[in-house]
Amino acid sequence: EKAGFKHFMAKEIAEQPVVIADALKHYIGTDGTSLNLPPEVDFATVDRITMVACGTASYACHVAKYWFEQIAGLPAEIDIASEFRYREPPLSPTSWALFVSQSGETADTLAALRYAKDHVAKTVSVVNVPTSSIARESDLSLPILAGVEVGVASTKAFTCQLTVLALLALKAAVDRGRLDAAGLATHLSALRNLPGLMNHALSLSQAIADIAEELAEAQDILFLGRGAMYPMALEGALKLKEISYIHAEGYASGELKHGPIALIDARVPVIVMAPRDALFEKTVSNMQEVMARHGKVLLISDAQGVAEAGSGTWATLTLPEAPPAFAPILYAVPAQLLAYHTAIAKGTDVDQPRNLAKSVTVE
Ligand code: F6R
Repeated sequence: EKAGFKHFMAKEIAEQPVVIADALKHYIGTDGTSLNLPPEVDFATVDRITMVACGTASYACHVAKYWFEQIAGLPAEIDIASEFRYREPPLSPTSWALFVSQSGETADTLAALRYAKDHVAKTVSVVNVPTSSIARESDLSLPILAGVEVGVASTKAFTCQLTVLALLALKAAVDRGRLDAAGLATHLSALRNLPGLMNHALSLSQAIADIAEELAEAQDILFLGRGAMYPMALEGALKLKEISYIHAEGYASGELKHGPIALIDARVPVIVMAPRDALFEKTVSNMQEVMARHGKVLLISDAQGVAEAGSGTWATLTLPEAPPAFAPILYAVPAQLLAYHTAIAKGTDVDQPRNLAKSVTVE
């Protein structure tokens, strides 16, 4: 069942290039340049979307907020379901609400969906289990096609959620007149290149295992990122604490000096997720503030980023260059492998971490 892997989590991390390619194949026309989404997915009259989920799925929404806003110019709100459902926020009748859930059975997300139903133009779910309650109760459900996910820590479901959300953001951009056929084709080709780039990232597994040997000694670890890399920092920290039980926090790089920098000393590893994009120099300057206080920096970037900013760091990981918009999907891989190998180094139960359930059907 584990197909030669030691753990389901390792197998599911390794499957990502294949399942993402499957999802892309499903939602992109055979010409490779057009979208193949159900006709009900038409954002022409939608003026806002609200995305609601829990845990890792909520970080997928958080990344997608950047896509909807930057690519489609569509205002996007995000919330965690346990807050949303009791806050009972006002929702516009011309807005859509999106619910993202691997299991489709998460109690808070389901309750949030039931609340939104009477308040928005359409409820849309992005789920892995097509027969689930959330899939059945939403007006429209889009499967992420990740296949069964057994590891309690979500990996391939997360990147497949991101993939489907990216395609939805592109559809919104087309429907809102923000993207012409050529622009769409360019984005789709960038997405179709991702599985190959992810294979490259997977090949860094041994280098990551070596770094993880040292991370396993830490008490606290910080993850930093800017833009859509900020939610990836949150996801990296969640994954690490879930399976290695090391205390980890993700922060937006720019928040560092508003508090968390007080934690930095030579014992605190700081993992900086920073592709060489438009925000790179800002993030690097935050990283230098960490190094000036003797923080142990692991810089995850591409070759150009590592060449420009790698000196003086504790360690670097060089990923292939990714299309800037969709880099978060690629950077999920090293975040997952860091958590996995750190847990292995600590000897914890990777597939069945303590206190956690795969599907949270009670609040
Ligand atoms: C983290 C993780 C959880 C889930 C969350 C939502 O690795 O797996 O944070 O993402 O419990 O679950 P679903 O997606 O089933 O609604």
